[in-house]
Amino acid sequence: HIAGPCALVIFGVTGDLARKKLMPAIYDLASRGLLPPGFSLVGFARRDWDHEDFAQVVLEAVKAHSRIGFRDEIWERVAEGIRFVRGAFDDDDAFVKLAETLADLDVERSTGGNHAFYLSIPPGAFPVVLEQLSKSGLAKREEGQWRRVVIEKPFGHDLASAKELNAVVNRVFPEETVFRIDHYLGKETVQNILALRFANQLFDPIWNAHYVDHVQITMAEDIGLGGRAGYYDGIGAARDVIQNHLLQLLAFIAMEEPVSFNPSELQTEKIKVLSATKLVEPLDETTARGQYAAGWQGSEPVVGLLDEEGFSKDSRTETYAAITLEVDTRRWAGVPWYLRTGKRLGRRVTEIAVVFKRAPHLPFDQTMTEELGQNALVIRVQPDEGVTIRFGSKVPGSGMEVRDVNMDFSYGEAFTESSPEAYERLILDVLLGVPSLFPVNAEVELSWRILDPVLDHWAAGGKPEPYESGTWGPHSADEMLGRTGREWRRP
Ligand code: BG6
Repeated sequence: HIAGPCALVIFGVTGDLARKKLMPAIYDLASRGLLPPGFSLVGFARRDWDHEDFAQVVLEAVKAHSRIGFRDEIWERVAEGIRFVRGAFDDDDAFVKLAETLADLDVERSTGGNHAFYLSIPPGAFPVVLEQLSKSGLAKREEGQWRRVVIEKPFGHDLASAKELNAVVNRVFPEETVFRIDHYLGKETVQNILALRFANQLFDPIWNAHYVDHVQITMAEDIGLGGRAGYYDGIGAARDVIQNHLLQLLAFIAMEEPVSFNPSELQTEKIKVLSATKLVEPLDETTARGQYAAGWQGSEPVVGLLDEEGFSKDSRTETYAAITLEVDTRRWAGVPWYLRTGKRLGRRVTEIAVVFKRAPHLPFDQTMTEELGQNALVIRVQPDEGVTIRFGSKVPGSGMEVRDVNMDFSYGEAFTESSPEAYERLILDVLLGVPSLFPVNAEVELSWRILDPVLDHWAAGGKPEPYESGTWGPHSADEMLGRTGREWRRP
């Protein structure tokens, strides 16, 4: 699992993502002995920095955010390969300079012409950077070398813009060299869905419409959007995370067994299942959206979205979104999939609950089963990673009362191995050239195709419903499920 020598160029090194995730992940990979000898990190930005200044920035980011204890000898090895190129994205000379820097590294540190370009920049800047990489010859490889490009979401804001963006990217980089980051796929608990489903005999027989009543996918966050207006205003919860993270989770849960875990076989199954997925109508009744108002986060009072810095007072951006989907396949016909996400909710939790139908017959006195709910298998994506199975059990005593209990698997108790951070895993896969955990162009476009109708519907409607910070979202979301006789879980 060690890649060959290479250089990673990051555009957007002054951004939050680079500081909080990318730089620490690189150090952590070095700590685990997973970076190739000669690995080099090149930062590109407008700041008036030299190599040492940039190395200092990386060092501070690592010390603040690394998951593995800091060790000087590891840092020194990373620092030897750090370079900085100063320039603006539209500055041809800066790209000439970048090309020279990479050519020097190829010799000095034997990176051999293997270069990955990480675009951690606003999507508006993609075209110019891609054009520069093309014009300067940096995107072109020679025999025996590789070039890869890594792009961060958002991959467009609807189907049409995603298609345009994909065309721009593919004009410069062939699809097999494009690594689109969906960091949820880098999470251990998400990859474990494949193990749970395809390494076991236990679950598959009931993994279908005969036994499953519905599926709930929840990504709740307690944080607000202070400081993120520039990215989030006008984007909203559905584009921010349903289009990517939550639809990828749905695909992992709903897809058929892939022939193998080769990237193309896995993609084939994901594409198939996303092609069969669509919104349930009428959208007024099957979707809900909200915007957080003032409230409490723990014991702290917090302001509503409209009072967060940078958001306009009449912003209609939703911070909560819930949708109902169906997967039109033999396996899933008639099973509703409820996806929801929100900021400033009761607590931070991501989980997938597969909720089963009730037993067809209960040979108990009705009063004995009042505390018996529906069986459920809950994949606890984060925090408190693990899996819970909920089922009914006899309450000890002389009667025959049955009540729900939980059977838990928890990573902390079952494994001594620590889970790598999602970005560690994904950056390593970029360097190794293994694209299994990166959505391809077709998946991105299918996800927009699924979501576009509700985005249009909301755009044509009024304002999102306010909900108090620290609660579980707008009333309309409860009504949405209530209409079907179901309830959201309170994780
Ligand atoms: C990002 C979204 O993709 O995921 C953010 O843009 C969100 O809005 C973040 O906060 C959550 O990631 P995680 O790994 O903390 O669940």
